[in-house]
Amino acid sequence: MAAEKTQPDYGLDAPMLVKRMFTRAGWTIAIGVAVFLINRNENPGPSATLLGVFCAIGAIFLAIGGTMLWSSRVGKLQLRDKLLDSLGLKGEEKVLDLGCGLGLMTIGAAKRLKTGKATGVDQWSAEVLSGNSSDAAKLNAKLEGVGDRVRFETSDLRKLVYPEKSYDVAVSALAIHNIGDREGRDRAVREMWRVLKPGGRLMILDIFHVGEYASVLREAGAQDVTVASHGFLWCLPTKSVVAAKQ
Ligand SMILES: C[S@@+](CC[C@H](N)C(=O)[O-])C[C@H]1O[C@@H](n2cnc3c(N)ncnc32)[C@H](O)[C@@H]1O
Repeated sequence: MAAEKTQPDYGLDAPMLVKRMFTRAGWTIAIGVAVFLINRNENPGPSATLLGVFCAIGAIFLAIGGTMLWSSRVGKLQLRDKLLDSLGLKGEEKVLDLGCGLGLMTIGAAKRLKTGKATGVDQWSAEVLSGNSSDAAKLNAKLEGVGDRVRFETSDLRKLVYPEKSYDVAVSALAIHNIGDREGRDRAVREMWRVLKPGGRLMILDIFHVGEYASVLREAGAQDVTVASHGFLWCLPTKSVVAAKQ
């Protein structure tokens, strides 16, 4: 019987890619060692050089895998807190998190709310986030002590079921780039904008296409559209766009 979870788990992003990096590191180093052992007596110099080359390539795979692991387990959580703090929530807001996955932003927002509520929407793809499901997100919320302040619902980001002007704050982290075509991504950003109340604020964090999101928001009439860089996560430049609705 599986042990019951006692700690929240926000999952590993791109789990297959991380696994592939560690597998490649293992194979590259193993091949280097094998080549060295087979040839070391007849050609000690070249076989030692080859071992060095294989180990260096293996180390690059290890470093990428390790960075991806750190990004999912540590970097993403630190950035989540920095970005949510910067929104300065008062506590009574209705917050919508698009592509919430295991509830990272939804729960982070709920922890900053008193009478407000946070809703997370997703389609729960396990390909892009390990262990992804609404039940796992609900369990995380319970373990974080905010089960009564959150709601998780299934929805496509490109076609939200919510009426327009129904949320004070709309956030999305690392989700919209998963929509493969520009039209779909634009639609998701426009949907986010549509459900936002006048006076509301929107924040998107992503590793690709953040400039596109900013353009869509400006076209939709957003005020104070600000793009900011947050260094590298998953070995990729990570940016946010923040906008306000008048
Ligand atoms: C990398 S995960 C990020 C999850 C969470 N925001 C976080 O930062 O931990 C991306 C999420 O976007 C969701 N997603 C991608 N495309 C979607 C779509 N068209 N509609 C709803 N959810 C989508 C995936 O199911 C996944 O949970």
